[in-house]
Amino acid sequence: MSSPISSVTGAPFARIMSVAGYRPSRVVTNEEVCERIDSSDEWIRERSGIIERRYAAADESVSDMATIAATNAIRKAGIDPAQVGLVLVASVTHPYPTPSAAAEVAFRIGAIGAAATDISSACAGFCYGIAIADALVRSGGTTYAVVIGVEKLSDWTDHTDRGTAFIFADGAGAVVIGPSEISAIGPVVWGSDGEQREAINMTQSLVEYRQDPGPHFPTLTMQGQQVFRWAVGDMAKTAQAALDAAHVAAEDLDAFIPHQANMRITDAMIRALKLPAHVPVARDIAYTGNTSAASIPLAMERMLDDGQAPHGGTALLIGFGAGLVFASQVVTLP
Ligand code: UT7
Repeated sequence: MSSPISSVTGAPFARIMSVAGYRPSRVVTNEEVCERIDSSDEWIRERSGIIERRYAAADESVSDMATIAATNAIRKAGIDPAQVGLVLVASVTHPYPTPSAAAEVAFRIGAIGAAATDISSACAGFCYGIAIADALVRSGGTTYAVVIGVEKLSDWTDHTDRGTAFIFADGAGAVVIGPSEISAIGPVVWGSDGEQREAINMTQSLVEYRQDPGPHFPTLTMQGQQVFRWAVGDMAKTAQAALDAAHVAAEDLDAFIPHQANMRITDAMIRALKLPAHVPVARDIAYTGNTSAASIPLAMERMLDDGQAPHGGTALLIGFGAGLVFASQVVTLP
């Protein structure tokens, strides 16, 4: 049967061409966090692996951080910003329901006229973005895409809540995705479990707050143990499924870069995946905290810059968080 609609195809494959991060300058120690919660440096290190984290300045926005990371990623990729046809901003902390952060960032980085949208997939947002950009580069929707994971979680955290105050932090990481002659982004294994939507949530909606402004502005709330159990129980299986889908064995990995949620979750996934000791593992959480959508690109940049992982090496990514949502894929490092 003939169709009146013609189609386009894109590149045979897509690849990550570059990665760049932005870490705010203000270092927040565990001692400083403990001024507002009943906790200790020792407990925070032991239970989460976090030694310190970064907070953005009061006048430093999600869009500001995203713009810096994206500008540097485009420079490293060696392309002109005007060649970028798609900008995806993965974030849950851009403070406006509309307009999107992505439209502003596209304009500010010089991707004038590019398609632009935000992705609300919390800590899985960066891996969701990679999957969407990969599909669009291959299907002809764009030649180059910029995917940015960025959060200013300090604005949405109750700094007196001992269940979340020590975990969340701020930062941004960006990649450029472009055409490739060889396979460099494996099939995504992703999904959601909305039945557990209360596990990481807001204390109130902004509309509820407007109708009945209580003493506390809405902030993030987390059932830490529930999320921990889900992550340890299910996420290693998701990561294994991504390895299987890409036909890559754990022992052939050059890096494992999971979302930096908690060092103990990372260690549990290493055990479940039977990851050999020679595979380097991202442990950026120690000095960066949990930056949700930004954690994977920030950790990726650090591993490459420190020489822990080789450029062109094979890495397993997995993001998981509020929704609940998750996404995992094997990629070739830029
Ligand atoms: O990024 C999105 C996805 N998020 C995650 O993956 C986070 C997943 N969850 C976690 O990482 C962990 O659940 C936390 C790090 C948030 C908490 O660690 P936990 O080992 O699950 O602590 P817990 O809630 O089971 O509490 C253990 C004990 C309790 O004391 P008792 O009842 O054993 O005496 C708590 O009262 O630790 C106590 N506690 C604290 N003590 C000092 C809880 N929070 C604190 C604290 N400081 N901040």
